[in-house]
Amino acid sequence: MSKGCFITGTDTGVGKTIVTAALATALRKRGLRVGVMKPVETGCSMDSDRLQAQDSSLLRQASGCTATVELVTPYTFAEPLTPALAAERVGITIDIKHIRRCYEKLLTEHDITLVEGAGGLLAPLTECLTMHDMAVELGLPVVIVARNVLGVINHTALTVTVARERSFVLGVVLNHTQPPSDLAMLTNADALRRWGKAPLLCQLAYTTTLTPELLHVYGEQLVSTGLLAEIDAH
Ligand SMILES: Nc1ncnc2c1ncn2[C@@H]1O[C@H](COP(=O)(O)OP(=O)(O)OP(=O)(O)O)[C@@H](O)[C@H]1O
Ligand SMILES: [Mg+2]
Repeated sequence: MSKGCFITGTDTGVGKTIVTAALATALRKRGLRVGVMKPVETGCSMDSDRLQAQDSSLLRQASGCTATVELVTPYTFAEPLTPALAAERVGITIDIKHIRRCYEKLLTEHDITLVEGAGGLLAPLTECLTMHDMAVELGLPVVIVARNVLGVINHTALTVTVARERSFVLGVVLNHTQPPSDLAMLTNADALRRWGKAPLLCQLAYTTTLTPELLHVYGEQLVSTGLLAEIDAH
């Protein structure tokens, strides 16, 4: 089996964490030891004298991954900024090799490891590196989460085009972060099949409450697309 996949998105706040948690839920249900990683998390709140990484915590919960927070999220920052800037403002340079070492440790303890990026694919990680460099460094194929709004076709095609330069694109997940309220939202799935430049894996419905049961349903939807076999092959 391939080592896992990298979950990126067309933007920040598009549903990467929900997709990663759902996939982790489905893989765990199949008896796999699922590792998770959110290597850099910004906008963390201070609690009990340490920065609390919320995405990281949800991913650990969904996957059952018991690795230390330092391995799952080696970099946490308080300011809600792109990683390179949040780091720079506290005098830190993110070390991609350190992220790789943490990932490799997780690999040794799990059957599959899911890595959630921060922001979109070209979000800066350092002065010269982006999130895409991280996906390439870890050697992972990419899943792209796209938010169902007017403009998603362009955002998706751009992201797929850049991703394909150096990574294998497993496909796109169209996530409904709002209730359908306009014609674009109703036609985006078909439009993405025509112009999205990568397979549309599935759509995740809008929900008012995210329960573990719903994560399970979303996870089964993701797995039923054949994603596991594709991850296996790349
Ligand atoms: N299908 C959905 N239905 C309703 N709300 C959703 C859905 N998907 C995501 N959301 C909401 O949208 C917000 C962003 O989702 P999420 O945190 O998964 O995005 P993200 O891409 O991981 O963001 P970040 O870039 O901060 O990591 C959250 O408040 C989440 O609850
Ligand atoms: Mg997230």
